[in-house]
Amino acid sequence: MTQQPFEPPIYPYERLAAAKEKAEAHDGGAVDLSIGTPCDPPPAFVVDALASSDAERGYPPSAGSDALRQAAADWMSRRLGVDVDRSAVAACVGTKEFVATLPQWLKLRRPDRDTILYPALAYPTYEMGAILAGCRAVPVAVDDQWHPDLASISDDDAGRALALWVNSPGNPAGQVDDLSAAAAWGRAHGVPVFSDECYVEFSWAGERRTILEHGVEGLVAVHSLSKRSNLAGARLGFYAGDPDLVRYLSEVRKHVGMMPAGPVQAAGIAALGDDAHVDAQRARYLRRLERCREILAGVGVFAPLPAGSFYLWAPVPDGDAQGLVDRLAADGGALVAPGDIFGPAGAGHVRVAVVQPDDRIELIARRLGL
Ligand SMILES: Cc1ncc(COP(=O)(O)O)c(C=O)c1O
Repeated sequence: MTQQPFEPPIYPYERLAAAKEKAEAHDGGAVDLSIGTPCDPPPAFVVDALASSDAERGYPPSAGSDALRQAAADWMSRRLGVDVDRSAVAACVGTKEFVATLPQWLKLRRPDRDTILYPALAYPTYEMGAILAGCRAVPVAVDDQWHPDLASISDDDAGRALALWVNSPGNPAGQVDDLSAAAAWGRAHGVPVFSDECYVEFSWAGERRTILEHGVEGLVAVHSLSKRSNLAGARLGFYAGDPDLVRYLSEVRKHVGMMPAGPVQAAGIAALGDDAHVDAQRARYLRRLERCREILAGVGVFAPLPAGSFYLWAPVPDGDAQGLVDRLAADGGALVAPGDIFGPAGAGHVRVAVVQPDDRIELIARRLGL
């Protein structure tokens, strides 16, 4: 069999170029609710830490300074109620690169396996990471509430799996999964479970949940400061859990030169030590979720409040998601994401990220005559 040369597919959000042009034609420009990129400022003391760390000169520790790893462990203890030794915590340059590169490191360690399992409705990078590693990317069916249906995974796929990804609260649907079931499935099948918990601070229905409540064996929780502390531009995340997996991954990543910048590590310590700015951000997102729900309802689209995350996941009444994307762009100057960006299971839906200031959201309402 001859192998086809790899050609990267069009980046998901670049599909929105035509709708963006329509939205930008409005006086006041486009109001971009398509990508989950924060618009609110990080706290001033975090920016001060970034500017005054004196950490520019030397190479930073790849896995994160002891102080950063300790700050992450302290945050997990304080906010998530789990105690993880800082030696089982390591930093990454934002979690997207961790997600995208993980499969190749796991495959090197287990060359007898070749499969990455991820929810059929999910952040696209789980699939892309598998593809970039030359692995099989196998979506796990989701139920009618968007939870992964672990019982549907075939024995063959489980036996070949290098990892199972779960994401709770989930992007794009905001569902909160049963992480104890995911942990149990992974252990029963000898498959490491990676739990992407970057929206955990934005849990609306009930407690913040981490998979590490169920122990660390075979489990790794992945966290990001991008959403929690409005630091997406600084690029900082971390992963924590199974000491053997964290050790292996942080060692291999050290050889690759994956190291969050020193000043960014200093900012991360400051950000992880404070919860007040997160509580303020939670209030902003909740207010915007409610307002954007009203605006969508005004055009006949009804989205439930998510259990977590800062996304509205809306079924499109006539099923024509691209039609709604175009209409919201043309009439409201608003850019939203068509659901099939997150897999074919997302067809007939749009995702609205409430990441614009209130006055910009009100501008959409006015343009729509609401
Ligand atoms: C589910 C999920 N995981 C990971 C990321 C990546 O975040 P970052 O690379 O900024 O940490 C995102 C960003 O949107 C996401 O939605």
